[in-house]
Order: sequence, then structure tokens, then C-alpha cells
Amino acid sequence: MKTPIDRAIVKQEITSAGLESVGLASIRELNRIVNNIEAATGERFIRMEMGVPGLEPPKIAVDAEIEALKKGVGSKYPPFDGVPELKQEISRFVKNFIDIAIDPVSCFPTVGSMQGCYLAMMCTTRRTKGKDRLLFIDPGFPVNKLQAKVLGVPYDHFDVYEFRGEKLESKLESYLEKGDVAALMYSNPNNPAWICFTDQELEIIGTLATKYDCIVMEDLAYFGMDFRKDYSQPAQPPFIPSVAKYTDNYILLISSSKSFSLAGQRIGMTAIPEKLFTSTADNLKDWFGSSKFGYAYIFGAMYAVSSGVSHSNQYGLCGLLKAVNDGQYNFVDSVKEYGDRAAVMKRLFVENGFQIVYDMDEGEKIADGFYFTISFPGFTGVELVEELLYYGISAISLTTTGSDRHEGLRACVSLTGQDRFQELENRVAQFERDHPQGSDFKLIGS
Ligand SMILES: Cc1ncc(COP(=O)(O)O)c(C=O)c1O
Repeated sequence: MKTPIDRAIVKQEITSAGLESVGLASIRELNRIVNNIEAATGERFIRMEMGVPGLEPPKIAVDAEIEALKKGVGSKYPPFDGVPELKQEISRFVKNFIDIAIDPVSCFPTVGSMQGCYLAMMCTTRRTKGKDRLLFIDPGFPVNKLQAKVLGVPYDHFDVYEFRGEKLESKLESYLEKGDVAALMYSNPNNPAWICFTDQELEIIGTLATKYDCIVMEDLAYFGMDFRKDYSQPAQPPFIPSVAKYTDNYILLISSSKSFSLAGQRIGMTAIPEKLFTSTADNLKDWFGSSKFGYAYIFGAMYAVSSGVSHSNQYGLCGLLKAVNDGQYNFVDSVKEYGDRAAVMKRLFVENGFQIVYDMDEGEKIADGFYFTISFPGFTGVELVEELLYYGISAISLTTTGSDRHEGLRACVSLTGQDRFQELENRVAQFERDHPQGSDFKLIGS
């Protein structure tokens, strides 16, 4: 059977990658294989494996950074915890869009929110004697687990699919009541499933975090990108839902990669409420030289890891945040395109025999956003990754994300513009024709 991409070449590239299973490849490994197949066949894939922004960086940020560079900041070390102007704008940003007041002192830039996650894991799991575990509310971003491994931090995880709404309470408590969970983590909107926690769920998480002195690492990598509501207006409701409304035991990790299309700059933001930032704990001093949480964070962890964020970059983000906070740049409008693409792409898959795996936020359909999840009857996710490669479509298996939905894949919309929709439709239509449901015939590649 002829598939859109030459079968022999796909097979050959998979084999020469030397992986046990292409369906279990990491995002970057799959990315490499697809690059190689594209080079060998001259065919373009519908690239959905990697979550990279597909839009231009905002001119305001670029200009502000150039200006700072011209002023000579490049020769000077930046403060570890950020230049004062940026700290101020991060604090305003959090107030304007989440409606939470956090002093600029404990708002600071990090080298991507990835580094923010790393520092947060490091400091929370070394804060209190006897509390050193992490809990991931999955599905999640695989790299966060890698970070925990690199740090040598033990962790637990569970797939939240079956524990939405009030069921979340007893599930979470079953871990927290053991008393050794230092921090828990989730992303909201969720990478990979694009589910968003409801206020009821955030309240459950916050209340239990206070009860068990567990710190919530709230990863807001897709800040404001639940397009079902308009979160774009500063200081006006609706505000972005956050656990910060329900506990003081949290760390906000905000990325500028997707919401601001600044992934290449590697700059993110961390905001820690005063109560936690100024608190002391019995295990910090041995690790960081101070028992004060905030001091340990900045002068222990941040100093050791990167000693701050590149100086000019901070001014770029600062210029952009100022425009956003002043209502002069609507960052949500600039990335809404992803939601529009998702609506069409999901339809094309569903019309051609695929199903959306994570499809609901309790009673409400999930938003159209940066990612969505798909399955095809009769396939595991790992099998489907490979099978779709023959049809020129690349996506990662949910199995790599801590999901129990092993039939699923994560698809990212960012690199598929409208000009590719027809091609996508042709490819998924052929996929459905070639895999009649209920037939024994399944894997073409095997
Ligand atoms: C859930 C999640 N957290 C963190 C990150 C990393 O963000 P940054 O580029 O700011 O390091 C990503 C990027 O894909 C993500 O999906």
C-alpha cells in the first residue's frame, strides 16, 4: 500500500536512530528523526511533535533589548534576582492578570520558566527535614520529571483524568497525608492535554497545600491561553484562575516562550508570595547557607545555577511587560491564532475517525489551544506515533507524559498554518481509508 511518505525511508530512519521504539522517543529524538525523513524524502511533514512558538517575537521586546545592548549592559553582571524595573513589571503583571498582589522583591526572572521549575524543585525539596518528595499531577511536561531525576529528588505522579472535580480531594490527600511531599506540580492550561483546572479544583489543591504544608508549583507556561475567556485586559475581570487565590503556599512559574513568543530568549518569571518568601525552614541552611526561604532561593540556588538572567534580555521582557501592563500590547490577541488552528485541526482528525482523548473540563468542553490529544481505534499511542509517520504526521505518545491514556498522542498546533490544512485533511482521510475500523489489518509499518 502506498503511503504519503515512502515507507522504506521511514523504516530506515527509524532503524538508524537505534531507538527501542520510535513511539517512546523523546520530543527531541522524534524531532531529529522527522528532520532526517524530511531531508531524505523531500516531503514536508505536518509537524506536531514539538511545542515551539510558530509566531514572530514582538517588536517591542526586540527593540527594548537592542536599546539596552547599545547602552552597554552587556559588560555588566545583572542582579541575580533581576533589574528593579523588571521586578516591578512582573509584580504588576501578576496583579493585573491574576489579581494577586506580590511584592516586586519576590518577583524575578529566570532562564526560561524551565530554570524557574528547577530552582523551585531544588528549594522546596530541601526546605523541611523529612519532606523531600515531589508529586506531579499528570499528564505533564516530561522534562520536569527529568529535572527531578537530575536533582535526585524522589517523586510520585498520577493521571488526573479519572480524578477531576471533587474526586481530586481524596486522591491528592492520599499522597499528602504521608507527610513527606514537599511540593506538587501541574501546568495550567495543561501540557499535553490542554485541560484547565476549575476554581473548585484549584481550591481543593490550595486548601490541601496549606493543610499539609506542601508548596504548589503552578506552571503557567501557557499564561492566558485558555481562549474560552478573554483574559487580555489588564486589571479587569475575568482574571486567570490560580491556586494563589486559595493558599499562600505556592510558587508561580510563568513562561514568556508561548504567550509572548520569546522561547529563544530563554527568559521566564517566578513570583513567590511574601509569606513563603520570608519564611524560615529547618533544612535550608545546610544546602544554601541561609534558613530564610527567599534568601536561600536567590543567594543560594540562583547564584549557584546561573547567577541571574542575561542583562539585555531582562530589558527586552521589561519593555514588553510594560506595554502589556499599560494596555498597549494585547498579548492574548497575538497568540489566539493557536486556538483557531486547533479548532480546525481537531475537526479534521475527528471527521476522519480519530477521537479527542482529554476532551472535557468537568462539564465543559476543553478549550482550543496550543495542544490537543488524539487516538485512533485499535492503536496504542506508541503504535500510532509510528504509523502516522508513514502519513507525514508527527506527534508524541501520551505515554511519555505520565498519562494513563496509553492510546493517545499529543499534537501541537504551532507549526501548522492554514496553508497546510488541506494536506493534513488528505493525509488523515487516507489514514482512515487505509485502516478500516474493525478490520484485523492494522500496522502498515510493521
Ligand atoms: C508545561 C511547561 N512548562 C515549562 C515549559 C518551558 O518553558 P520555558 O520555555 O519558559 O522554559 C514548557 C515549554 O514547553 C511547558 O510546556
